[in-house]
Amino acid sequence: MNAPVMQGLELNVPDYVKNARLIAWVADMAALCKPARIEWSDGSEEEYDRLCDLMVQAGTLKRLNPAKRPNSYLAWSDPSDVARVEDRTFICSEKQEDAGPTNNWMAPAEMRATLNPLFDGCMKGRTMYVIPFSMGPLGSHIAHIGVELSDSPYVVVNMKHMTRMGRAVYDVLGVDGEFVPCVHTVGAPLAQGQQDVAWPCNPTTKYIVHYPETREIWSYGSGYGGNALLGKKCLALRIASIMGRDQGWLAEHMLILGVTSPEGKKYHVAAAFPSACGKTNFAMLIPPTALNGWKVTTIGDDIAWIKPHADGKLYAINPEAGYFGVAPGTNTLTNPNCMASLNRDVIFTNVALTDDGDVWWEGMGDAPAHAIDWQGKDWTPAIAKETGAKAAHPNARFTVSAINNPALDTAWDDPAGVPIDAFIFGGRRSNTVPLATEARTWMEGVYMAATMGSETTAAAFGAQGVVRRDPFAMLPFCGYNMSDYFQHWLDMEHKLEESGHTLPKIFCVNWFRKGADGKFVWPGYGDNMRVLKWMIDRIEGKVKGEDHAFGISPTYEEITWEGLDFSREQFESVTDMNPEHWKAELAMHTELFQKLAYHLPQELIDTKGKMEARLTQA
Ligand code: GTP
Ligand code: SPV
Ligand code: MN
Repeated sequence: MNAPVMQGLELNVPDYVKNARLIAWVADMAALCKPARIEWSDGSEEEYDRLCDLMVQAGTLKRLNPAKRPNSYLAWSDPSDVARVEDRTFICSEKQEDAGPTNNWMAPAEMRATLNPLFDGCMKGRTMYVIPFSMGPLGSHIAHIGVELSDSPYVVVNMKHMTRMGRAVYDVLGVDGEFVPCVHTVGAPLAQGQQDVAWPCNPTTKYIVHYPETREIWSYGSGYGGNALLGKKCLALRIASIMGRDQGWLAEHMLILGVTSPEGKKYHVAAAFPSACGKTNFAMLIPPTALNGWKVTTIGDDIAWIKPHADGKLYAINPEAGYFGVAPGTNTLTNPNCMASLNRDVIFTNVALTDDGDVWWEGMGDAPAHAIDWQGKDWTPAIAKETGAKAAHPNARFTVSAINNPALDTAWDDPAGVPIDAFIFGGRRSNTVPLATEARTWMEGVYMAATMGSETTAAAFGAQGVVRRDPFAMLPFCGYNMSDYFQHWLDMEHKLEESGHTLPKIFCVNWFRKGADGKFVWPGYGDNMRVLKWMIDRIEGKVKGEDHAFGISPTYEEITWEGLDFSREQFESVTDMNPEHWKAELAMHTELFQKLAYHLPQELIDTKGKMEARLTQA
């Protein structure tokens, strides 16, 4: 099939593309979006290099100094397009209650009527790239295929790092295989002869839309991160969470790590922290010298697909193939593995350009005497001091393939996944929530995760540093009614118990308590190994912890302190349960539960009642 869809526009379907539904859909979308040409991405190195060259010429990318940062590029986005846009993200289920109170909703017919005129001609003057990708190892029973149509070459090259992208996907797709259709446009059509800009986007109109029933994704107006790389949050979390609900598995905003003890025993941990709250850092952790025999390896840094297996265990895979990580705050002390991952073959977005053609960001190390900031302006430490100008945007990111990570786990690519021994949930809280707490039961763990609060970060457009409830770190990513999602987690316990397996333990952490001086008290990063070790000790039954209203926390004696000067008083200040703070905290849980009243599991309300009773006794 090679029929022209409009005058002068050929579909040019490669002979290895045989999926009739795909071809028909591409033809429909081309007729709607009216691109100047269509290109079928094959995922080759040649294509990657060619598109990067094209973007260097267009001013979208800058080639970094090959002596310092081989085969690496820097992109600066439009200042209106720097993060996910949660208030422009929609779940368009047939029924509003299926999207639930935490999602923006519009009836599918109404949304289609809104989007149709926007998409009509949206790719004029641009190339429509057809990007085939697999979330999860190619051909694995656990994987899902998506095809993204995008008018952004930046999206193509990023998708090559972030997913298994390219020609081999078509072999798996075959003639009648299933795929999730994802349409993306920067929403900036070019009139005849109109000069393009370095970062095209639509500064005023953005829509990130999901249709759960038909499993479609439509994204308009942004070229940045999760708004545009549709395999990530849109497919692997929002749509996948719906698939998981229907099919009995979990799609989670979680890192997955392997941790090996000095005795050589290996455990696997999945941890959910909200955006920009330390997943990448934790997944690549290097233990402090005092805990030398311990080793952490990365399976994933952002998303986990978790399925119950016939042996009664939960197995997790990382559906992604790369990292789209936060640059600011990353350095050779906080995350040496990450820094090593960034030595070559990287796309940086919104970091600063140094005079020697390298990159810099706040918290990387000594500031250069001069740099060009992410908005293309001169930057010096003096200017920063005077105006507060940031060299890098706080949500500046790097895109890099997982294979660059020196701490990559040997099983990172295993289609069978890894068995999960513990879940960790953690928000960014300057007070209230202790450093580490173990839930006594699955029920209590689900309660902890469901009521988790965190201070908002630069990962999403909008106010920052405000405590909001972020259940399971999934607030912006759950594709259906949050209370039904809680129920799904509660049901998992009974499913697993039936197969007679010990459930993974559930822990809650907070690396972010602050002292009177406004500084973080807990050193964090590599020292988080001390807390992880305590969790393993709990799994192995080596320590007892201390019981309180919220769960079980470590005593001072149970943490290994060798090599760290951390006093009993400091420990007290990151672990104490302040009754006033907890009264306010529980009031916020009540508020959350009122908001989520529709389908809210009664057991969660009962668990809160028990906690309240214990807090008032104490
Ligand atoms: P997303 O990719 O947005 O989902 O975020 P992430 O959870 O992977 O966040 P990441 O690991 O990139 O951390 C982002 C920010 O958290 C950076 O500014 C880090 O410096 C900071 N951070 C990470 N771990 C710690 C820690 O243990 N302690 C403190 N104080 N800050 C941390
Ligand atoms: C997050 O915000 O949680 C991210 C970055 O991981 S983005 O891909 O932009 O969503
Ligand atoms: Mn994330």
